[in-house]
Amino acid sequence: MTSNYHQLTGSAYVAKGCAFEFAHMKTSFKDALEAMLIWIFLQISDNTGYKGHILCVEAFDRAMQSKDVYPNPRKDIKILDVGAGTGGIAELLKARGYTNVDALDISQEMLNLAASKNLYKKLICAPLTDTYMKEVETAEYDVVLCAGTIVYGQVKPGAIEQCARFVKPGK
Ligand SMILES: C[S@@+](CC[C@H](N)C(=O)[O-])C[C@H]1O[C@@H](n2cnc3c(N)ncnc32)[C@H](O)[C@@H]1O
Repeated sequence: MTSNYHQLTGSAYVAKGCAFEFAHMKTSFKDALEAMLIWIFLQISDNTGYKGHILCVEAFDRAMQSKDVYPNPRKDIKILDVGAGTGGIAELLKARGYTNVDALDISQEMLNLAASKNLYKKLICAPLTDTYMKEVETAEYDVVLCAGTIVYGQVKPGAIEQCARFVKPGK
């Protein structure tokens, strides 16, 4: 990425940076594509009423209220936000008092944006797929949340098995 990109303050700037990079071929195709995807995501979030992160945390809230699902709810349970993006889920979790949230995303640029908001304890840059991922240990987390990521054109449904591997088994 160019230094322009790292000075990002809003989606318009990403768009500018992205066009610049394609026009001048200053970065690798992968970096330019990543900038384009981030721009598309920010546009979708801003303009289409995307609510995946809200629905996900609402479902999490409901589960946490059920003693059958989580008998001893604590605010420091270890949560992994898979496909964290710019931190939409973690912002909602922080507002609810959760303090122990890690982020996993394939895009370091997305993680950099999330990091600037100070929402996550650990940032893991790795691709979620249907195969074993060494960056996350088996049963490392109490909860895995994932919104807008296992969807058409991104991560295939088989990856859900990996997400299940990341969480401690229920009793
Ligand atoms: C639509 S955004 C959703 C962000 C956030 N979860 C939300 O709901 O606001 C999808 C995110 O998934 C990430 N992603 C796409 N493919 C991935 C993969 N194979 N492994 C990990 N993250 C991936 C993208 O980089 C992007 O940050």
